Amino acid sequence: MTINQQDLATLQSTANTIDNDSIEKKSVEENVSQTVNNSAEANLTEKELPEEDSIDITHLRTPIKVDLSPVYNFLGARTTQAWVNAAIENLPMIIQDHANCEKKAAGTAMNLIFRYEFSYDLQRKLAQLIREEMLHYEQVLGIMNERGQEWKYLSAGRYAKGMLKHKRTYEPAAMVDVLIIGAFIEARSCERFAALAEVIDDERLAKYYRYLLKSESRHFEDYLALAQSLSDENIDERVAFFKEVEAELISSPDAELRFHSGTPA
Ligand SMILES: [Fe+2]
Ligand SMILES: [Fe+2]
Repeated sequence: MTINQQDLATLQSTANTIDNDSIEKKSVEENVSQTVNNSAEANLTEKELPEEDSIDITHLRTPIKVDLSPVYNFLGARTTQAWVNAAIENLPMIIQDHANCEKKAAGTAMNLIFRYEFSYDLQRKLAQLIREEMLHYEQVLGIMNERGQEWKYLSAGRYAKGMLKHKRTYEPAAMVDVLIIGAFIEARSCERFAALAEVIDDERLAKYYRYLLKSESRHFEDYLALAQSLSDENIDERVAFFKEVEAELISSPDAELRFHSGTPA
């Protein structure tokens, strides 16, 4: 089949319209304003248009506003100013630990995929989550490379262990607890990215942290919805329990500074 130039132009224009429509629908649905009309972007050719999944953070579409009220309502405590100050003073370490967190998030989700194969919904949601966490991992590696930052071993902090030690040991309760803990880790990450983006003295990094808010807040909601859908009982009591445990880990003095550490001791 041959296509003449006029047909090709019509097809491209139709494709652009469909693409623009889906972008518009998506931003209304997700209540996220995107910088699609940025004049610099408007000058780019179709081939160079920024992609959601670019490894180079320069090409990411960063939402101007993401509604974080579900995240703030879910968490039992807000990050203290003392943690934010310490994080800003130790930014390379926070970036290194962030890289570790992305890798661990993907690894934990992969373990769940192998362990709980009976649920289609769990498989599908976690497969997407793993893809996104590995993309974030690559993006953070790119940031470290750009900043000339060497990879440095960092031991895990107390945060995840502090919640996992309360995990029930029988199924399906163990699975439900891990999913609830996953929801808290994602929600806290989101809250901390937002807190850092407000004050960070590096606009490129701040923009990247704002870009992460959309996916990390969805991860929190996905974990929570999975926990409820795979549990025979109402999970509210369990969520309330981990809310307290998590808030204590974030608010109490912590000798080690990490992405998810408590108030600097
Ligand atoms: Fe992530
Ligand atoms: Fe995530």
